[in-house]
Amino acid sequence: MKSIKKKISKLKDEINQHNINYYVHDNPTISDCEYDSLLNELIQLEKNNPELITADSPTQRIGATPLTEFNTIEHSLPMLSLANAMNDDEIHDFDKQIKKILNTENEIEYTCEPKLDGLAVELVYINGIFQHGSTRGDGVNGEDITQNLKSIKSIPLKIKNENPPEILEVRGEVFIDHKDFEKLNKTRLNSGEQLFANPRNCAAGSLRQLDSKITAQRPLKINCYAFGLINEFEFDRHSDFLKKLPKWGFPVNNLIKTGVGSDFLVHYKNELENLRDSLNYDIDGVVFKVNSIEKQNELGNRSRNPRWAIAGKFKSRQATTVINNIFPSVGRTGAITPVAQLEPVNVGGVMVSNATLHNQDEINKKDVQVGDTVVIQRAGDVIPEVVKVILEKRQDDFTKYILPNFCPECQSKVIRPEGEAVARCQNFSCPAQIKGRLKHFVAKSCMNIDGFGEKLVEQLVDENIIKDFSDIFKITKEDIQDLERQGEKSAKNIVDSINKAKDTSLHRFVHGLGIRNVGEHASKLLETNFKSIENIKNATFEDFVNIHEIGDIMAKSIVEFFNSHNNNLIIDKCLNSGMQFKKDDNAKSDKFLGLSFVFTGSLTQFKRSDAKKIVESNNGKVSSTISKKTNYLVVGENAGSKLKKARKLGVSVLSEGEFLNMSN
Ligand code: IVH
Repeated sequence: MKSIKKKISKLKDEINQHNINYYVHDNPTISDCEYDSLLNELIQLEKNNPELITADSPTQRIGATPLTEFNTIEHSLPMLSLANAMNDDEIHDFDKQIKKILNTENEIEYTCEPKLDGLAVELVYINGIFQHGSTRGDGVNGEDITQNLKSIKSIPLKIKNENPPEILEVRGEVFIDHKDFEKLNKTRLNSGEQLFANPRNCAAGSLRQLDSKITAQRPLKINCYAFGLINEFEFDRHSDFLKKLPKWGFPVNNLIKTGVGSDFLVHYKNELENLRDSLNYDIDGVVFKVNSIEKQNELGNRSRNPRWAIAGKFKSRQATTVINNIFPSVGRTGAITPVAQLEPVNVGGVMVSNATLHNQDEINKKDVQVGDTVVIQRAGDVIPEVVKVILEKRQDDFTKYILPNFCPECQSKVIRPEGEAVARCQNFSCPAQIKGRLKHFVAKSCMNIDGFGEKLVEQLVDENIIKDFSDIFKITKEDIQDLERQGEKSAKNIVDSINKAKDTSLHRFVHGLGIRNVGEHASKLLETNFKSIENIKNATFEDFVNIHEIGDIMAKSIVEFFNSHNNNLIIDKCLNSGMQFKKDDNAKSDKFLGLSFVFTGSLTQFKRSDAKKIVESNNGKVSSTISKKTNYLVVGENAGSKLKKARKLGVSVLSEGEFLNMSN
């Protein structure tokens, strides 16, 4: 028995090492056939000795019965996104701003990385064993895609190190490279399956499979570039962390460089932009990160992105095509946007058939006519736009386009106020506006009503079943199941989702109301500052502008919105339908304002995520590394190097009990 156990353990190590050679070092030392025979030997041994199967065995990458849905996982530290620098000036500004905050004239050292165009994931290891992994989700909560991630061979199931940190959270981008993508689409073509539009969609679709056996057949890869929580491992520079990753068995991109000063950043961006088309994977920009972890901590985060990092965007992808037609489209605020209907064209991997012309002034300025050959561009997820006309290709019979004076949807008058570029349909009850408002209300970032798609909104409005937000909460199963393409089961699911969505948060509801100029972030500000819908309703213009980040224009929109009797009526009807706002997570005290905490060791009295909530709900900060800026180190059992460092730096040390007392 002992010898079988030894043999299994040796085989596991051997196979894991071959994975690392192949995926991390790009240097396989055996053939695929030899690899398969090692794996088969292990499968056989485990089949005969199932009690010896462990979670980190390479055989555990595939398997598990399909899920019915993904569970939610809360990230122990939020997965932030990055602000963008759209051009060289903005890169220099970023560097200037950092020097200003750090109060230094010395040049700053940065790590420069390619910005991979895939999906961000988090991998959590406890004592060196892969425990679970999740998508970024909304940054706070992600979906548990552990089983799918296990099927990706370049993700280590066990960390290759004698003494891995007790908790190690590694973040990275899952993607599919061009060669593999083309191969996959070719097989799909041969078997009559629908083709993937581009590698990113393919990677996203593959990662979100409920059946991990399907994911296992997709050639997903990962490049790691960031950390979440790490317990008991110290490093001074981000580049030290990146150097450590391959030693632990994680693949890291080979184009990463370290350099000093903002000229270096611009140079790096240009270099990668030139390389872009020759790479075997998609990148949509570069990422610059302040290298010193201590400086990163000092710079801290804004609500959605860190101050110490930025994405340098590449120029947009462009293509040339013909405008077949121009039509007016009515948005949820009544704005009438001219849209060019194009001869479909592939722009950087995405088929584009419509592009915005923004407004009449832009049409006039660019002199766009139906029939013109035009250059269009798309940048990231932004709607494609017409950049310019290729005048040499214009023919005499092309026609100028003028936006109609009447709404194409409801025939009401369209008004373009003096000095404004946007013309709007003035009819609040215009079906296109109603549909737009309702689509926004049910969307993921608002009420998040699962399964309530755009098509369903259109059907329900056309059938006169819903007219405003509050009608959504009156929808019955019968209302839905009689619609085209709907059945009893989907009707029941949607009604369940509607009921589930009644448990929401104030900021989701406020965002869903679609108040002009009030987006997701502003809605959160309103929740934090006013705490209830009543308080928002009763607040004045001055109350709003007194909030940092809320300006005159936004304040005016909010006041106007809540001055409408009709809007208040709809809100009341929503609230009376049983809607409940979750305990206000953002209701903060200032007890820990300006204080930063680090937690270390095994915590026994509370979970790490709860500790973080306690600190943040008191306006304090949690960091994963100790520096002289840390105010308190809270120690659980078996605290190690962090405790030593805290003592060295003179940081106050608290027990778990002392911390709880302090927060009560
Ligand atoms: S760092 C706080 N590094 O870009 C730092 N992100 O807009 C957050 N991404 O969600 C991430 N390559 O999906 C970082 N080398 C890289 C990246 C990268 C791609 C993606 C990632 C993230 C998004 C941020």
